[in-house]
Amino acid sequence: MIRLAFITLTLSSLLSAWWLAGVTGEALLLPLPLQQLDHFRLNRNLKSYLDKIDVLIEPSSTVCSQKKDIPVLVLVTSSPSRFDHREAIRSTWAKHLPTYFIMGLNGPSVEDLMVDNYVEAKKYSDVIIYNFQDHYQNLTLKTALMLKWTSEHCPTELMLFKTDDDVLVNPWMMKRVLEETSGSDLVGYRKMNNYLHRDEYSKWYSPRWLHRQDFIPEYLSGTGYLINGKLIKKILETAFEVPMINLEDVYFTYLVSKLKLGLKLTHDHRLSPYKPLLSLGCLYAGLASAHSLTPEEMLNAWPRVEGPLPAKSFCDRFVDTYWNEWFLY
Ligand SMILES: *[C@@H]1O[C@H](CO)[C@@H](O)[C@H](O)[C@H]1NC(C)=O
Repeated sequence: MIRLAFITLTLSSLLSAWWLAGVTGEALLLPLPLQQLDHFRLNRNLKSYLDKIDVLIEPSSTVCSQKKDIPVLVLVTSSPSRFDHREAIRSTWAKHLPTYFIMGLNGPSVEDLMVDNYVEAKKYSDVIIYNFQDHYQNLTLKTALMLKWTSEHCPTELMLFKTDDDVLVNPWMMKRVLEETSGSDLVGYRKMNNYLHRDEYSKWYSPRWLHRQDFIPEYLSGTGYLINGKLIKKILETAFEVPMINLEDVYFTYLVSKLKLGLKLTHDHRLSPYKPLLSLGCLYAGLASAHSLTPEEMLNAWPRVEGPLPAKSFCDRFVDTYWNEWFLY
């Protein structure tokens, strides 16, 4: 009897120790993020993806069908649920630049959001929705759809600015960038001598089976870059020959544009992937775009960008004399 009790006790303590180890072990080791890159194992041919994707919602008439000379067209990658981000953009910089939002479908809850997105699209005529699954890992597809949409709807004499919905654009500085870089192939914030993230916990994780080389000599940051309209069709068609990877900026600006087509990537620090450390007027005035702003931050920063003209001429002097990348993060 005593022996049985002893065995039970030992067994149960062993079991609970094992269970405890399991629980604490799991708590200490973060679960691996679900990367959802598996569809690339089956298919990495951009054209075959695009052939299956139809446009569901788009404005019946756009600035491209109405006007002839549009210096710049802005296409923003967004996603169905980010209403606040789009609202912030519409009430700030998009008042001064022709801007459209591109997104996919929201997965299982598609029906609910689709109604809201449909109402939104009717109200603003600036929403383009394609039937593919909206996901961070599908950004390459989203950018490809931007190129496709622009080449189908717009004249080639424009610059396409591809950007995100957490980016604040300064339309006045953007105009200056456009004038100064006119005729360039691609313009953006050029990142030099980088290594791909092989760490599965990273948001930018890209496995070796997708791209063997670790080293990326140069690419333009995906937070915002300009593409010459004359090259859009060529870039898209060339991409059909380059196996897709999940990093849209490395893919389109380096692998397709630079490596395969030999196009020039022009660096302009004013198309910044960072934002000013302090929300000071002149820091924003010195940039054509700033990245990673919440809708609230965007609304708060806007008056400093939009500021009255006398303040601007002061800023011009400030920017020319004192402006420094150290002000950014
Ligand atoms: C990306 O879109 C394709 C086409 O709709 C889909 O098959 C794939 O599952 C999507 N990937 C993710 C990670 O959602």
